[in-house]
Amino acid sequence: MSSATADALGPLHDYVEYDHASDNFRDDVLQGLRQSPKRLPSKYFYDERGSQLFDDICELPEYYPTRTEMALLRTISSDVAALVGEGATVIEFGSGSSTKIRILLDALDDPLAYVPVDISREHLLASAKDLAGSYPDLRVVPVCADYTQPFDVPEIAGEKVRAGFFPGSTIGNFTRADAISFLRAAASDLGHNNGLLIGVDLRKDVDRLHAAYNDAAGVTAAFNLNLLERINRELGGDFDVDAFAHDARWIPEPGRIEMHLVSEKAQDVTLAGETFHFEAGESIHTEDSHKYDVAGFKALAAEAGWDSIECWTDADELFSIHLLRVA
Ligand code: AVJ
Repeated sequence: MSSATADALGPLHDYVEYDHASDNFRDDVLQGLRQSPKRLPSKYFYDERGSQLFDDICELPEYYPTRTEMALLRTISSDVAALVGEGATVIEFGSGSSTKIRILLDALDDPLAYVPVDISREHLLASAKDLAGSYPDLRVVPVCADYTQPFDVPEIAGEKVRAGFFPGSTIGNFTRADAISFLRAAASDLGHNNGLLIGVDLRKDVDRLHAAYNDAAGVTAAFNLNLLERINRELGGDFDVDAFAHDARWIPEPGRIEMHLVSEKAQDVTLAGETFHFEAGESIHTEDSHKYDVAGFKALAAEAGWDSIECWTDADELFSIHLLRVA
């Protein structure tokens, strides 16, 4: 863990970086492709091109989660503010562009500090500086870390209460077991009696889910295929990207959308001196996106040491936002 020099901080109050923040893309890719069935971690979707494609996904007519969560957040923000209380320190897990947090910060009663935690250093610092410029009274302390690994929330002088923020249904990318470990770790990072506001995509009509992950314009397909392009670009792989097809399927048990890249023919791919064979129709599993009903998610949170304080859903019951408190 290291701290930045004061002159590089600009409007930031402080900056903390964890060593584990450097990913091992190459090793993770090789390890995933050696498995049967083959898989690749979804966290690697988000290089510059992938992050742009994800932003484009959020604008698609079929992809309801982002706009539904933002609208719901606006509707409930004053209720959330009343429950969280005055002078809170907000810790965001995987802060990305720090867009949704503005809705919450605008509603909270005199928030003390904002601690965005993200693995992507440049993006984190740029977004944090931008946010600090918009909220001059807020202490903004970015932490560059993999939020799935334990980290210490930096101590802020005069701190009263902490509120975690984990929007976007990113929790859906974890298996049930990993979601529980993440929530356990978050409970210990935040500490007793502190809260977590978490966005969770709801179970719904399969056609609607299917459309959201197989959009007509093919943006989700491009997002999925960009992972192979990234491997070619950064690791010198020779994936024939045109010989793979995007596929997103609803798996009723345990209730998730799985994204796959399906090899359209028998082929060999070479990467870092290793050859990987694909049969025609063989797939690489690239992402899970679990969907929960309200009771199911409360039960999962309870297993991880969280009490449910409140849960809100939009009128069409597409998306939920839970407020939890460390038990
Ligand atoms: C950002 C993980 C919530 O699972 O819906 C969008 C990513 N994948 N379309 C999701 C995603 C395909 C998204 N999360």
